Parts: sequence; structure tokens; C-alpha cells
Amino acid sequence: MIRVERLTKRFGAVYAVSELDFEVRPGEIFGFLGPNGAGKTTTLRMLAGLLRPTGGRALIAGYDLATHPVEAKALTGYVPDEPYLYELLTGREFLAFVVDVYRTRRGSEQIPRLLDLFGLEARADDRIGSYSRGMRQKLALAAALVHEPRVLLLDEPTTGLDPHSARVLKDLLRALARQGVTVFMSTHILEIAERMCTRVGIVDGGRLIACGTMAELREQAADASASLEDLFLKLTGGIEHEDLVRRLETDVP
Ligand SMILES: Nc1ncnc2c1ncn2[C@@H]1O[C@H](COP(=O)(O)OP(=O)(O)OP(=O)(O)O)[C@@H](O)[C@H]1O
Ligand SMILES: [Mg+2]
Repeated sequence: MIRVERLTKRFGAVYAVSELDFEVRPGEIFGFLGPNGAGKTTTLRMLAGLLRPTGGRALIAGYDLATHPVEAKALTGYVPDEPYLYELLTGREFLAFVVDVYRTRRGSEQIPRLLDLFGLEARADDRIGSYSRGMRQKLALAAALVHEPRVLLLDEPTTGLDPHSARVLKDLLRALARQGVTVFMSTHILEIAERMCTRVGIVDGGRLIACGTMAELREQAADASASLEDLFLKLTGGIEHEDLVRRLETDVP
């Protein structure tokens, strides 16, 4: 369970996140959408306990991150947008290190299972410095799962994954949600959000401008047949697509 109350983060004069209120329940897969710079990563970093809010609060399974950070973090798995991995360790050593950090009993049993699941077994004993982008992403996903978190925070988790690995991840998230894990992920891939998220939230300029099931969003936009792409473009404004196409046609020599 994730609960956010008037959550705000200001960087100097910029309100990266402004008075966010929402709740994500166990078993839900919540898609967090929004244009570049909307405040998605900032929100995820606050939920992961890596960034202190300027105002409001965030709770993980009832634990306020401001007062009970250790309890909250122990229940959370976080995959950052740009994972920091120890280049000199092998993939297997890195996972063993993460298990040590969390001091989980079952963690070491999870390592071979996760390496196999993400197809990393063959390269598990090579240094991370030699990994491709997608392999790094898969290792970061595995690292977020070794301690069997109840809440998963994922920042654009399919970035760099090939179609096969993306499918593995989608199936895995669905299976975890069925087991009652709370899944919160940011994505720019609207097809993923539309097909696998139970609810979506759209942020723009740090504010939540829409939140609900696809049906609720269509109702809000008074457009029964709208795709998520239509709704996203309509709600987040900016240049209308047809306008842009017209400008490209006339401006480009
Ligand atoms: N450490 C920081 N210092 C100053 N400003 C920051 C910092 N981190 C983020 N910002 C600003 O906060 C706003 C939100 O950024 P954020 O990274 O949360 O966006 P995002 O929704 O994740 O975007 P993207 O889709 O590009 O990943 C932006 O205006 C960004 O420039
Ligand atoms: Mg981001």
C-alpha cells in the first residue's frame, strides 16, 4: 500500500512535485504517466526514501517515510531510471551484496532464480562493467526483487529491454500483483499502461491532472472511445498533434 498526502518537492523556484494526493492498494499496478519533467522521477525518489519532501508526506504500508524510513524501505523494491551498479562486481556478486544489505534469509535462494528468470545466468560471473544497457536494467530489476518487497517502485522499467525481456517483466509484474504486491511504475509507453495497469495517474507540471481506471479517464474526458494516447495528449495540452504535423509540413524545406 502506498499513500501520498499533499506530497510536494521544490527545487529552488521550481515545484517539481506539487501537492500530490493518491493511494495505490495491494494487488494494483498503477501507471504513472506524464510529459518529460512532469515530476515522475522526483515522486518515485521520494517514495523510495531517497529524497526528502518539501511538504506533505508519503507512507509505505502505513509507515511514514519521514518517521519510519527503515521499516518502509525494508518493504520496498526500487528500480531507478538510471541504476547505479558497481562496475567492478560481477552480476552475481552484486546480487549477493544486495542480499547482505537487506539481511534477508531467503535472499540467497532468490539469486539463481532471478538470474535465470532474466536470462542473465550465462553472464552472471562477468563484471557489470562489461554488461549491455539491457543487461544492466535486468540486473537492477533482479536487485529490486531479491528481498521479496511488498511494494515495487519502477521508473520506466522497460527502458532498454528487448521484446522478450519486456514480456518477462510484464508477466512478472502481473504475477506479483496477483500475490498482493503493490506496483507503482512510471512509463512513457502508453500501450503498456493501457494494457497492464489497473489504474493510471497523469502528472503535468508536478500536479496530478487525472487519475483512475481507463473507463474513468474516458468519462472525465467525455470521450467514450478515446485511447490512452488521445487522453494523454488532450489532458497534457501543448501543441495539438495536427498543428505540429502541419507546421512540420510547411516549415521543413
Ligand atoms: N536535483 C534537481 N535539482 C533541480 N531540479 C530538479 C532536480 N531533479 C529534478 N528537477 C526538476 O524537477 C522537475 C521534474 O523532474 P523529474 O525528473 O521528476 O521529471 P520526470 O517526470 O521524471 O521526467 P522524464 O519523463 O524526463 O523522466 C524538472 O523540472 C526537473 O528539471
Ligand atoms: Mg523521469
